[in-house]
Amino acid sequence: MADPPFIGIYGGIGSGKSTVAALFAQLGASVIDSDAVARELTAPGGNALDAICAAFGPGFLDASGALDRARMRALVFAHAAERLRLEAILHPRIGERSRELAVRAAVHAPVVMFDLPLLVEAPELRKRLQLDRILVVDCPVDLQRARAQARGTMAGHEVDAVIAIQASRAQRLAIADDVIVNADTLESLRARVDLLWRAYVASTPTAGATPAADSARKDMGDGGAGPAVLS
Ligand SMILES: Nc1ncnc2c1ncn2[C@@H]1O[C@H](COP(=O)(O)OP(=O)(O)O)[C@@H](O)[C@H]1O
Ligand SMILES: [Mg+2]
Repeated sequence: MADPPFIGIYGGIGSGKSTVAALFAQLGASVIDSDAVARELTAPGGNALDAICAAFGPGFLDASGALDRARMRALVFAHAAERLRLEAILHPRIGERSRELAVRAAVHAPVVMFDLPLLVEAPELRKRLQLDRILVVDCPVDLQRARAQARGTMAGHEVDAVIAIQASRAQRLAIADDVIVNADTLESLRARVDLLWRAYVASTPTAGATPAADSARKDMGDGGAGPAVLS
């Protein structure tokens, strides 16, 4: 089987990346979640822990031997230099491990996707993933904030702190090959995902381009010049 496309689903907190990723997974995509990869690397015995201990000291491990995430979060949100130090350890490793999982998934999946909160912000990660396309999930910042808070796991000021360190909408859109504007209902989101799915599957060399997929591409304005905006 020919290589499936590797596609990054990229957006700010609360934009709807994971929702979009779940919809693609229902259609048959294999999705690699970079948050889950980060947790694996910092679980007991995880392969980022030695470097984290060397840089920050053993005080950042909890009783189980995992990274004490709350303690580390408090440090890196208060000190940008510490955050950069942590990211220099984590991002290349997240990239390597995600790529490894993707290559494994590529044996059976028609499309391999990555759920990515960072990309512009993480050049090392981006380099290692070797993406074929970047799909940006975009929505107004107020909506991001409202959705992220409605999940109930973060306070408003924590959501704002994440938004402040993430790239701007314009920076994300500047690297997009495709864009889904997720500011409407879940039903319309699903319709946009279905349309893109047909185009992505058709881009697999073995699948061949079907007339339906060709017209889906044309509807999205994807002639290779600039992003296909689905809004
Ligand atoms: N179009 C939508 N309509 C209603 N709720 C949505 C929509 N898109 C996402 N959500 C909800 O918003 C929250 C954030 O979405 P999520 O996919 O988790 O964002 P991200 O992974 O980008 O942080 C979730 O609770 C999700 O169910
Ligand atoms: Mg998510």
